[in-house]
Parts: sequence; structure tokens; C-alpha cells
Amino acid sequence: MACKPSIHFIRYNVWQAVRNETRIAASLLRMHFHDCIVNGCDGSVLLDDTDTFEGEKNSFPNRNSVRGYEVIDKIKAEVERACPLTVSCVDILALATSEAVSLVGGPYWRVPLGRRDGKTASQKAANEQIPSPFEPLENITAKFTSKGLDLKDVVVLSGAHTIGFAKCFAFQHRLFNFKGTGKPDPTIHSSLLENLQSMCPEGDDSTTHSNKLAPLDSVTYDKFDHMYYSNLMNNTGLLESDQVLMKNPMAASMVNYYSVYRYRFYDDFAASMVKLGYVGVLTGQDGEIRAKCGSVN
Ligand code: HEM
Repeated sequence: MACKPSIHFIRYNVWQAVRNETRIAASLLRMHFHDCIVNGCDGSVLLDDTDTFEGEKNSFPNRNSVRGYEVIDKIKAEVERACPLTVSCVDILALATSEAVSLVGGPYWRVPLGRRDGKTASQKAANEQIPSPFEPLENITAKFTSKGLDLKDVVVLSGAHTIGFAKCFAFQHRLFNFKGTGKPDPTIHSSLLENLQSMCPEGDDSTTHSNKLAPLDSVTYDKFDHMYYSNLMNNTGLLESDQVLMKNPMAASMVNYYSVYRYRFYDDFAASMVKLGYVGVLTGQDGEIRAKCGSVN
């Protein structure tokens, strides 16, 4: 009989990690997104730099920001002990993400399996392909559509920002002199603005301050729910790239809908995550099953 590690085993490990630190659920979800959006879901985000390539870990969006590598490495090490060279790192990351999201109150989705791990990674591709919080919605949408995703996926998957945190660096430009106006971004509600201004003072781009963390969902940051959408309706989205969804009529009507119908959001989020998990996958003879997630065999 083929060696098949139990899902309960991955679930238990993720449960331990989330019990230890709730935020790790958010970090795993983001890592899975950053893996898939850069040249497909191939575990490339997990690879360390080598003599032949500079990996994605040190790209601008990921460096000192993507977290959770040790959770995946630990699960992989135990899976390898039981079933050597059977389950890819990218499948482990996809499974761990689904477990993590459901553990913090979100939907559960069955993860289609059989992806293989890539043999290379590209820092340049990560810098180019991961959406930035500073770019307009059209650019962000174009990055999604180039992977077979659409505007609905942008709105639905951005709902991931119902959990987790962002550094001052990611939103400070909205707080004092937004686009050279000498004033804050007019689409930040005054209550949130005051808090953020005191957390990330003007002109202070010292590492201590730019590394300070604000919750992406200031109301229920450790629970996966649909509050993200209510926040956008109330002008309390944290990132500029979140709040601009309200400026696009199609996106804004979806935001409105999900702010009311939590379980529609859950169903659509699960469906978009499965869709994301198919982007550019390697199967058959392509890629490999890595023995260790940080390096190719
Ligand atoms: C639509 C374009 C997106 C942009 C511009 C964006 C940008 C960002 C930024 C700037 C941060 C904060 C990083 C830091 O300060 O270290 C962040 C955090 C996060 N992002 Fe996104 N993101 C986008 C879409 C997504 C998607 C599609 C997902 C997942 C499906 C996702 C999941 C997360 C999560 C869960 C966090 C919190 C991570 C943690 O606390 O460790 N994001 N995102």
C-alpha cells in the first residue's frame, strides 16, 4: 500500500503552532499566496538562496515579512520520516493553510493534492509579481488576471486581511502627507487615523517604528470573519490597496455583499483558494518531491 501521511498529523502540527501564536495562521495563508502568485504554486517561496539563484525569501515583499517557514519545515521533517519523498512541500503548505484558516474561524476547504515542488526560485519574479500595497487596483488586478484569477478573486482573497498584521512601512504614506497633499488619505476614518499616527509618527522611518505592527482588521484581527468588508465600508481598511476596492463600483458592490453575507464570503473564499492552489502547478515528471523544503534535492 502506498505510504500516505494522515491529514490529522498535519492538522495537529498546525493546531500546535496556532495555539502557540494565533498570528501564524495569517502568516501561513500569506506564504501560500506569495508562493502561488510567483510563477505558480511550486514551493519556491520556501527555497533558500543558492550559488545558482537568489530565492524569493529575500525579495522586497518577503524579506523580514513572510513568516512560518519553521512550521512547514517541521511538518515536512516528520512527514519525511514516515513517508520519504512522497508529499511535496507545496502540498504541505497548501494543506497547512487550509487547516490554519479553519482553526481561526474561517472556512475549511479540501485541498486537491499532487503538486510537485519546483527546482528553482526567482527573487526578481517575486519582486515583479507579488502585488504591492502602493500600486493602483488596475495593476493589482492585472497581476491576478495574468495568473487566471479575476477581479472577484482579488476582492474575495483580499478578505484574507481579516487576520494578521502589517508594518507601519506598508501604510505610513497614508497618514500625513498622502500623495503630496500635505494631508492624510481622506479615506481613512478619523478614529483609526489617530491611532495609526501615534503608532507610526511622521518622518520617523527608523527601523523600530517602521517595523511596528498594526492589525489589518482593527476590530477582530485574530478571527477569520467578514469584518474586513465592514471595515472597508466604514473607511477603516488599513492598506491603501484594501480601501481602494471601494473606488471601483464592481469591487465595492462585492464588498457590500460580503459585509452582509458572511457565509457567501466563506464559500467564495474557499473556492478562490482552491483556484489559487491550481495556479501553475507542476505535475507528472515536472519538478520533484523535495526532501527538505529549503533546498532542491
Ligand atoms: C491584493 C493584493 C494584496 C496586497 C497589496 C497585499 C499586501 C499585504 C501587505 C503589505 C501586508 C503586510 C506585510 C508586512 O507589513 O509585513 C500583507 C499581509 C497579509 N496578507 Fe496581503 N496583500 C494582498 C493580497 C493578499 C492575499 C490574496 C492574501 C491571501 C489569500 C493575503 C494574505 C495576507 C495575510 C494573511 C497577511 C498578514 C500576514 C501576517 O500577519 O503575518 N494578502 N498583505
